Amino acid sequence: MGEIQPEIYILSRDAEESARLNRQHEILLEIYGNNLIHPSIPKENLHSVADLATGTGIWLRDAATVLSMWNRNPSSPYYLHGSDISSAQFQPIPAQANAEIQLSLQNCLEPFPAEHHGRYDFVHVRLLVGALRKGEYELAIKNVFDILRPGGYFQWEEIDMNSIRSDISPQPPSLIEARGLLLDSLNKSDLYTKPAGHIKSGAERIGFGNLHIEEYNSTARPHLRDWSRAWLTQGLQSLIPMSLIRLGKASEEDVAKEMAEELMAVFKRECAEVTVGLTMDMVIGRKPERLKNAL
Ligand SMILES: C[S@@+](CC[C@H](N)C(=O)[O-])C[C@H]1O[C@@H](n2cnc3c(N)ncnc32)[C@H](O)[C@@H]1O
Repeated sequence: MGEIQPEIYILSRDAEESARLNRQHEILLEIYGNNLIHPSIPKENLHSVADLATGTGIWLRDAATVLSMWNRNPSSPYYLHGSDISSAQFQPIPAQANAEIQLSLQNCLEPFPAEHHGRYDFVHVRLLVGALRKGEYELAIKNVFDILRPGGYFQWEEIDMNSIRSDISPQPPSLIEARGLLLDSLNKSDLYTKPAGHIKSGAERIGFGNLHIEEYNSTARPHLRDWSRAWLTQGLQSLIPMSLIRLGKASEEDVAKEMAEELMAVFKRECAEVTVGLTMDMVIGRKPERLKNAL
């Protein structure tokens, strides 16, 4: 196992980044009011669930635990499948009675093997904002469509990178600089800075119905504010080095990391007492029970 092809992905895949993804998952759950799956999606009889671009598999780990609670027919087995373009961050998922759990290598831009087609009651995708070029989203959405059963739902969560801000005016200069580097490098690499609207319109074109976007601000409730600051700080720390390299402001990784650390040291000072956060956009849609204009 390894990687399938060269890619544009902007984050590293080391142990530190895996730990960040796992912490991020817990924070996101808090931001969503502890809902792993959006309240509008029926939870009964979810037997077959896929998580694309699964990373460490952390979302799937929690899904494996909650599926058994939601399942009205506990004697029927359920199946969870996590896939990613790289297996470098896969972590073992504890076995659950009555569940088959698999992790596999799969580029979400490539068609899935036939045995996955029409198989899933629910497909989850999260945080490909730093990985998919603008023209690639519809390929991934089409693959989500193909692996869902008629009537199945998808949930796709992305950051709105433009929404990064503090509650003070003027904004702290280090926040403006860090956000600017991030937005400039995403734009330069032909990546969206706020993918949700494009995911929704692409899903509409492909034939999904019941589409809507739910926005969650990371500072919406007081107890989230310290977590939000810590999450944003870690996220920027991970994203700034590659942004500096893409923008030609640093030529080597070591130099880029040093520059990022300096900027983030100022950020930590300037933002120590202020609220800093961002908006997560969650796109939800349903594959029609009957396909009229199947692509
Ligand atoms: C920021 S991580 C998010 C991981 C996970 N979804 C989560 O929320 O914890 C992005 C993941 O997308 C994967 N990825 C990037 N390009 C991909 C592609 N074309 N197909 C499948 N996975 C991809 C990366 O390997 C990485 O694991």
